[in-house]
Amino acid sequence: MNRFWTLADRPLDPWPTPETFELRTAAMPVPGPGQALTRTIYVSLDPYQWGYKKRGVEPAGAPCHARTVSQVVESQMEGFAAGDLVFNTNGWSEYGLMGAGVARPGYMIPRKLDPALGRISQAVGVLGMLGLTAYAGMILQAEPKAGETAVVSAASGGVGQIAGQLARLRGARVVGIAGREEKCRFVTEELGFDACVSHLSPTFAADLAAACPAGVDVYFENVGGAVFDAVLPLFNIGARMTLCGLIAHYGDAEGTDARAALVARGAEIFRTRNVTVKDLFVGDFVAGHEAQFLRDMGAWAAAGQVRYREDIRQGLETIPAAFAELLKGGNFGKMLVQVSPDPTL
Ligand SMILES: NC(=O)c1ccc[n+]([C@@H]2O[C@H](COP(=O)([O-])OP(=O)(O)OC[C@H]3O[C@@H](n4cnc5c(N)ncnc54)[C@H](OP(=O)(O)O)[C@@H]3O)[C@@H](O)[C@H]2O)c1
Repeated sequence: MNRFWTLADRPLDPWPTPETFELRTAAMPVPGPGQALTRTIYVSLDPYQWGYKKRGVEPAGAPCHARTVSQVVESQMEGFAAGDLVFNTNGWSEYGLMGAGVARPGYMIPRKLDPALGRISQAVGVLGMLGLTAYAGMILQAEPKAGETAVVSAASGGVGQIAGQLARLRGARVVGIAGREEKCRFVTEELGFDACVSHLSPTFAADLAAACPAGVDVYFENVGGAVFDAVLPLFNIGARMTLCGLIAHYGDAEGTDARAALVARGAEIFRTRNVTVKDLFVGDFVAGHEAQFLRDMGAWAAAGQVRYREDIRQGLETIPAAFAELLKGGNFGKMLVQVSPDPTL
């Protein structure tokens, strides 16, 4: 039998609760011609998955979408054999099919993983879409230069920790914004950011201004809300902002447009200081930049120039609670759930 989490048949709250999801058991999927059955090892939990649920993207009763790292159990799919380790999209599920005719929201073309290139869990992190997000938003869009000041919000998280280190590699002075004190310490002491301020501090805006005495040239936005409001007055003339995500708003009421509201709040400063605002969607960079990204990031990670922290929870049962924590800052590093043994460890 296969176990998976699906959305419960009830109205969604602004943020996930224990009642939002339902654990189901179903017959083990059987691979047809051109398909393979895979056992999920790691489930990637990402903030955008809440958007899928709020927008009703997933069919009723289907496993919740997620990118995964899995092992092939049985294959009729060309190029994939039993035992192969793969990046695929099994969702919040112990097993899943991939290959011909498998269509589900967010389905991505599976690729084989080489454990020699790094821990296989990193295929949904620094060596996967998260790493590409940071690479595209920081290196390709914001283009920090030596001597500039770059600010990154959600700085200890999956994307933020990488984005900040990339700005440092480009020679910028990097200031992180994070929550708990231990996250701020990690960002400066382990990742080498030049400073990190806590958005939980009552003097947050003043702390940020003090940490950016030469203003802000690059802002990598993961959060929005009060965090954006604190960065806004610090923008220098010609600054660049990459709008990667607005996690503070993912519980906003339906029909509100957080991006439009943020851009409206910033409009006067953007105009008078010639600030460039670029929206970031990682999917736009896969075809043109993934190969180069994997070469660059693989080398930086192997050389220890980009370090990367994961927060790995254990067991399929923990997924809903882990997901709810991710949206509220309970994760410390990129959030994953391990649902079966990792044969490379
Ligand atoms: N544009 C794209 O293609 C793309 C791709 C991937 C991800 N993203 C976006 O990138 C952002 C980061 O994603 P991630 O997967 O790396 O998650 P993450 O940063 O690992 O986890 C989310 C973090 O956001 C912070 N946060 C949550 N609510 C907050 C609030 N109200 N105020 C301040 N900080 C808050 C928390 O950190 P603290 O405890 O430090 O506050 C939390 O740990 C998200 O906005 C996501 O949607 C965009």
